[in-house]
Amino acid sequence: MATSPSAISASELTYRKLRIDDNFSSLNFRQRNGQDKGGLQEFITKEAIDYQNENLGVTYVFFYAGEPVAFITLSMGQIEVRAMLKTEKVQKARITEYPCLFIGRLAVHEPFRERGVGSHMCFWALSKARRLSEEVGCRYVALQAVRESIGFYSKCRFQCIDEGLKKDKTWMYRKIIF
Ligand SMILES: CC(C)(COP(=O)(O)OP(=O)(O)OC[C@H]1O[C@@H](n2cnc3c(N)ncnc32)[C@H](O)[C@@H]1OP(=O)(O)O)[C@@H](O)C(=O)NCCC(=O)NCCS
Repeated sequence: MATSPSAISASELTYRKLRIDDNFSSLNFRQRNGQDKGGLQEFITKEAIDYQNENLGVTYVFFYAGEPVAFITLSMGQIEVRAMLKTEKVQKARITEYPCLFIGRLAVHEPFRERGVGSHMCFWALSKARRLSEEVGCRYVALQAVRESIGFYSKCRFQCIDEGLKKDKTWMYRKIIF
């Protein structure tokens, strides 16, 4: 978690589901170098509401002092067991994928980065997955990270799959702790 004096605490953030009349065109969800490798700017301004209406992903918008500062998109997902650490294997289970809550997109508006908002959304997703797992099988929170964001997710204690490190995007996962 960021520790600068301007850190934003979880209690200062509110959230709600994306609405059709939300407009994020003045916010910046690109990477620091101006690139939009993960397609996040494009997604939130053009696609997110369609994903939500078609049940492909629900987007939650996070607010600080009444202003939107970040978003996260969640879906059901699964992760291949063979790609994970051997210690993750459940010996009695004969399935090749484990169920997870999938973070499809996650981004923080540029001026609000490095203040704990991104990690708060990761922990929020973990607690959502934990609650969900009481009613639907769900063992992990997982995502596909672009290279530039691996460090951030590692700080949030997500684990990379080994083979992913050679590719543009890397699967990362964290087990729900009970
Ligand atoms: C990556 C991103 C979501 C991080 O959000 P954030 O609110 O700045 O993250 P936090 O302030 O919670 O940072 C938590 C920790 O991760 C570190 N961190 C943040 N971004 C990082 C990065 N890109 N690489 C390595 N470490 C990073 C912080 O320094 C902090 O470390 P600390 O605990 O030692 O203080 C944000 O930079 C962003 O939206 N980037 C552009 C979009 C993007 O790349 N999204 C992910 C696509 S898969």
